[in-house]
Amino acid sequence: MALVALGVSGGIGAYKAVEVARGLQQRGHDVAAVMTANARRFVGPLTFEAITKRRVAADQFAPGINADIDHIALASNIELLLVAPATADVIGKFANGIADDFLSSLYLATTAPVLLAPAMNTNMLSHAAVRANLDTLAARGVRRVEPGDGYLACGWVGRGRLAEPETIVAEADAILRGGGAWAGRSILVTAGPTCEDLDPVRFIGNRSTGRMGYAVAAEAVARGARVLLVSGPTALEPPAGVELTAVRGAGQMHAEVVRLAFEDAVDAVVMAAAVADYTPAAGAQPVKIRKADDNLVLALKRTPDVLAALGARRGAAAKPVLVGFAAETGNAVERARGKLAGKRVDLIVANDVTEPGAGFGVDTNVATLVTEAGVEPVSRRSKRDLARVILDRIEARLGVPQS
Ligand code: CTP
Repeated sequence: MALVALGVSGGIGAYKAVEVARGLQQRGHDVAAVMTANARRFVGPLTFEAITKRRVAADQFAPGINADIDHIALASNIELLLVAPATADVIGKFANGIADDFLSSLYLATTAPVLLAPAMNTNMLSHAAVRANLDTLAARGVRRVEPGDGYLACGWVGRGRLAEPETIVAEADAILRGGGAWAGRSILVTAGPTCEDLDPVRFIGNRSTGRMGYAVAAEAVARGARVLLVSGPTALEPPAGVELTAVRGAGQMHAEVVRLAFEDAVDAVVMAAAVADYTPAAGAQPVKIRKADDNLVLALKRTPDVLAALGARRGAAAKPVLVGFAAETGNAVERARGKLAGKRVDLIVANDVTEPGAGFGVDTNVATLVTEAGVEPVSRRSKRDLARVILDRIEARLGVPQS
């Protein structure tokens, strides 16, 4: 059991911090809440006191507090400082070393790892000042749980919503457990279909549900990796602890994957997404295509091959380890061998989607792992279990110590 200081700053998401506190306790951790003055305008300290069974640190100069120099005592006893929600104000203070209240003093005084869950209005989040502060903190090793997209309390729809409490708890817990075999390593996983828009109401899609990619992402989180999930439209909840980038078309998937893979120097990329090979040649029409009496002929052009682009850019370097999928309807292994060489990747997970228990919309898969060294059949099993085998093979290539 570890002692976690849960910093709560003044955003509407402050009420969700109560659930974060409970989640941490459920995973066996002891929580000491630290509230800023503005946080106390959203939620009463009594709520946290009742849940944590500890006095809430709120006022740095309250009588009785200075006798123990509380923030120093807490600073040396905690194993993690988690701030959820972290407002632009708190982020600014941390980045610039301002210590004018209990929480900001605690940040300077502790040597424990720090995890922030930022939450604010979309424009505030993308403001150059906030971005620079977040970059400064990241360079200092401060981790963060990225905010999500959705309805914000200010009435806007966009990025800035506090991440879900369970995601924050999972991330905090992974840090407290010292991470798994992948601690300090990162992986980019793609999942789901892409949708190639024809007009405002129609698109060309495919039958991928995203389950295989989401299973790989969830397993990588469980092993302690930093997981970047680039997902086409799916009905699935992203696994707790992943950093999600939602995309729609193949072009967008290509741009995001190449940017993230090399900007973040990931250790591995698993391309489980069913990326469309073709998209409307003229792009999406701005108005609905009307029907006529004749046949409709659609001109389609090739999309960029994301995996091949990664293979070409990586060249002979050892990283990132590249894994592709091949959904085939016959001759799976032979075709996979062609893809392995053609796209210059390390492993192709081939499956014959016509086989029972394999492919789209089912929870199991039957696969053959194809590498330069040979062919390894993997019998029918859950997608999560297949994800384990795939990650084991990536670990072997990366030289990750086996537990
Ligand atoms: N892929 C990609 N970019 C594309 C298309 C596919 O990165 N534009 C990736 C998929 O994510 C998958 C692998 O490449 O990992 C699939 O290979 P691909 O050659 O596209 O297979 P299919 O299109 O299914 O088959 P074929 O080429 O035989 O038509």
